[in-house]
Amino acid sequence: ATQGKPITCKAAVCWAPKTPLVIEDVEVAPPNAHEVRIQIIHTAVCHTDAYTLEGHDAEGVFPVVLGHEGAGIVESVGEGVTCVKPGDKVIPLYIPQCKECKFCKSPKTNLCQKVRSTQGRGVLPDGTTRFTCKGKPIYSFMGCSTFSQYTVVADISVCKINDDSPLDKVCLLGCGVPTGYGAALNTAQVDKGSNCAIWGLGAVGLAVALGCKTAGASRIIGVDINPSKFEVAKKFGVTEFVNPKDHEKPIQDVLVEMTDGGLDYTFECVGNVHTMRSALEACHKGWGVSTIVGVAAAGQEIATRPFQLVTGRVWKGTAFGGWKSVDSVPKLVEDYLNKKLMLDEFITHNMPLDQINQAFHLMHTGESLRAVIQL
Ligand code: APR
Ligand code: ZN
Repeated sequence: ATQGKPITCKAAVCWAPKTPLVIEDVEVAPPNAHEVRIQIIHTAVCHTDAYTLEGHDAEGVFPVVLGHEGAGIVESVGEGVTCVKPGDKVIPLYIPQCKECKFCKSPKTNLCQKVRSTQGRGVLPDGTTRFTCKGKPIYSFMGCSTFSQYTVVADISVCKINDDSPLDKVCLLGCGVPTGYGAALNTAQVDKGSNCAIWGLGAVGLAVALGCKTAGASRIIGVDINPSKFEVAKKFGVTEFVNPKDHEKPIQDVLVEMTDGGLDYTFECVGNVHTMRSALEACHKGWGVSTIVGVAAAGQEIATRPFQLVTGRVWKGTAFGGWKSVDSVPKLVEDYLNKKLMLDEFITHNMPLDQINQAFHLMHTGESLRAVIQL
């Protein structure tokens, strides 16, 4: 009955940087050709939302509907859409997969570039937005805008998932968990019996731990300055803990001693350029691989002595864990349904949309791993 007509619904609107989100009635226009209108049922809050909210994102445009870690049900589709139909359960994808661009055709990357420039400007591929509030156009975010009861995305930015999926859990497969899990499995390609260390035991770092465990790593060392993270991290496969605050020496020296020369694989899941250096330098000479997963503040630069690389350490990075999104996210959902991938344990808080600012607060204080919002 709503097909082809605008829908008025609740959304958390970010009117300007550094201001709390405001729950507003927004109008969501019907999908144009190759677009999908989705009823978002659940969304989690992630650091990238906070980063833009705080005005750190050079590309950030306002007013905007944030949110990119969500799940919902297709309400209607525009002309030419064949990948999903009304009623399908779906996950919006901030890295799309067009299957046509140079990047999609290469097995070496997941960074589809098809909608990169419009997505960065807060609009859909035709250059316009589907949200209006108080007569003003509201921009979209990361091609997803999941902090709204309805959103419109490009058809390459969504994937159909199993009809039996609990949306309050699988929404996490929109960002943080696949990012960490894939960093271990796809980007670093951790092997059986290896020694791994992870800086930052938030949701992303704990998802790395799950990936290392799945790959059969022998030692998984968690490095965090917040000792309250240690107990919970055991559930995700972390076997030992190191708090840099307990040591005088640089943490890389401590780890090199603990591991007879260094780690086979390290992961930075903090987003701090100093811990990125530590993670590289804690790697074993000759073969250690360090993967950057955390996102550093705009303009920051990394440093090390080139000798570190000359002597065989490798510095890598990953976005969305290297997963080609449309192909992989439905499979990660199956892994969750088959109990091969943990998700429930990441969810520390559940709340309604009108408490979304509280979810940001819990993330900043480190109290939450993930807060899931019901729309
Ligand atoms: N050394 C070790 N751990 C640190 C340090 C440090 N110097 N500084 C902070 N940490 C820890 C925090 O105590 C926290 O447990 O890093 C962890 C970061 O976790 P969260 O804030 O929950 O972040 P998460 O959602 O896991 O995302 C990690 O990835 O999404 C990117 O850039 C984003 O910073 C974010 C990172
Ligand atoms: Zn592509």
